[in-house]
Amino acid sequence: MSVVDSGAVGHGATWAAGGMLAAALEAEPGEEAMVGLARWSQALWPLWAEQLAAASGIDVAYRGEGTLQVASNRDELAALHHRYRYLKRQGLPVEWRDSGPLRDLEPGLSPDMLGAIVSAGDHQVDPRAVVPALAAAVAAAGGRIEGNRAVAAIEPADRGWIVRLADGEHRAADHVVLAAGAWSAGIAGWPTQARPPVRPAKGQALVLQMDPVRPLVRHVVWGAGIYLVPRLDGRLYVGATVEDRGYDRQPTAGGVLSLLEAAWRILPGIEELPLVELVTGLRPRSRDDLPMVGPAGAPGLHLATGHHRNGILLAPATAELVAAGILGGMPAIDASAFAPARFHSPTEVAVTA
Ligand code: GLY
Repeated sequence: MSVVDSGAVGHGATWAAGGMLAAALEAEPGEEAMVGLARWSQALWPLWAEQLAAASGIDVAYRGEGTLQVASNRDELAALHHRYRYLKRQGLPVEWRDSGPLRDLEPGLSPDMLGAIVSAGDHQVDPRAVVPALAAAVAAAGGRIEGNRAVAAIEPADRGWIVRLADGEHRAADHVVLAAGAWSAGIAGWPTQARPPVRPAKGQALVLQMDPVRPLVRHVVWGAGIYLVPRLDGRLYVGATVEDRGYDRQPTAGGVLSLLEAAWRILPGIEELPLVELVTGLRPRSRDDLPMVGPAGAPGLHLATGHHRNGILLAPATAELVAAGILGGMPAIDASAFAPARFHSPTEVAVTA
């Protein structure tokens, strides 16, 4: 098994990600199919984290304090009550906290916070630890991961496929899994009618440095248009914008301003923290905001893209679904809502070489 990545390994959307495993709080009306997939993947994560650590020696910093979604004014409070009722109707494990008990839970929160949804099962990992852990686990299992190896095109072979690399080399494969994130629609030779309709959704985020011994916050905290993800080493990830700007990855003053202002309203103590990084990344967003995972329109071709806001959360489930598609097993859930074929033309898919 060989993985080729056009840049440094795992330095696309994964490197910019917050790493929230938020199956409950990311649930959106109209995307109910996602809840089953997201909860399945969330349930796979603790064992995945253990297996990755055992295979690689790298701790992926799985943190299990849970997530709070807070309201800082009466309008936000009304919206949050509405959201709480929606999440409860979906059967998601969330609870309500009024402002007093909320500050007992997180004393660093602004006294202006009026209440919160507590999602005790929405945890986090550090994506920048997951990348080398996965790379080491793949290598330990006999696979090969190569960075700075862009794909020029794929073409059908007598048996399987040839993947042609931009540097002139090629790889022969029985199966090809296209997982090129926001660039997945641009691989030459992919059957025209089966090109995944995926586009970039820019995210800007900041990293602040807390004292790891006396951090300002321990839970992941969401506010209106903002979330704060405290890492075990004291870094505080503040994310993230969702912008339609094509492939532009430039951080902007407006993006930074909106993140800092929203973060400061929730956690005023951030004012004193060093700002250590500006992060931008491009999420791969599909036409219906659901991922595209599974067989992809011609024998031996598979997709794993379109994960939008949930790439890290959905990694274990995606791996299970891709493996089932290649090896012929039955996945643990009905994944038909995520089949790439939902976007294919009804006519037979043509293979262009
Ligand atoms: N998972 C949150 C985001 O994509 O910003």
